[in-house]
Amino acid sequence: NFQNRIQYLKDSVAAVKDFPQEGILFRDITTLLEDPRALKDTIDLLYEVYKDEKIDYIAAADARGFIFGCALAYKIGCGLVLVRKKGKLPRETISQDYDLEYGKNTLEICKGSLKKGDNVLLLDDLLATGGTAGAMIKLVEKSGANIVSFAFIIELFDLGGAKHIKDTFGIDSFSLISFP
Ligand code: PRP
Ligand code: ADE
Repeated sequence: NFQNRIQYLKDSVAAVKDFPQEGILFRDITTLLEDPRALKDTIDLLYEVYKDEKIDYIAAADARGFIFGCALAYKIGCGLVLVRKKGKLPRETISQDYDLEYGKNTLEICKGSLKKGDNVLLLDDLLATGGTAGAMIKLVEKSGANIVSFAFIIELFDLGGAKHIKDTFGIDSFSLISFP
């Protein structure tokens, strides 16, 4: 059943203390990816949640969001828009600065990748403070596209990212797995 499937995914994520710096408990998805059952079920469960929405594009975050974003876009049959770290996209871009749980960065999308009226599902592997998600939302909003929802594999609940996204942007998020 659903709860058992979620528990299996949860157990497949490794927890690493003090990475990339002291005090951070890093939730490592590489162990989930290495497990064929966990990888397949992650995509299948997300597909179940979003299959009836009219999604034109998944916009996924560099780098770990790409992995899940591409598999889900293939399964849904929609396009994939790469939201990349600064300086990687070759054409004209829209950019947005943001704060991380452990640092600062800039995200970009290609100008013209998303158009007014496009239905977009945003996706990333993990929601911590919501800084990355907020920057992604601002980028997609600048393009005029419509945000269907924001999906995550993992949510770090105590960091308040989901509440931040809801209170700041009025957008509902969905996470398969939640850790405190
Ligand atoms: C991680 C993670 C999310 C973000 C979450 O990415 O994949 O994108 O942090 O943190 P936040 O909610 O506090 O913004 P990171 O920037 O470490 O990049 P990576 O995927 O390239 O490893
Ligand atoms: N990104 C931001 N915080 C993280 C954490 N604690 N584990 C894995 N990825 C992260």
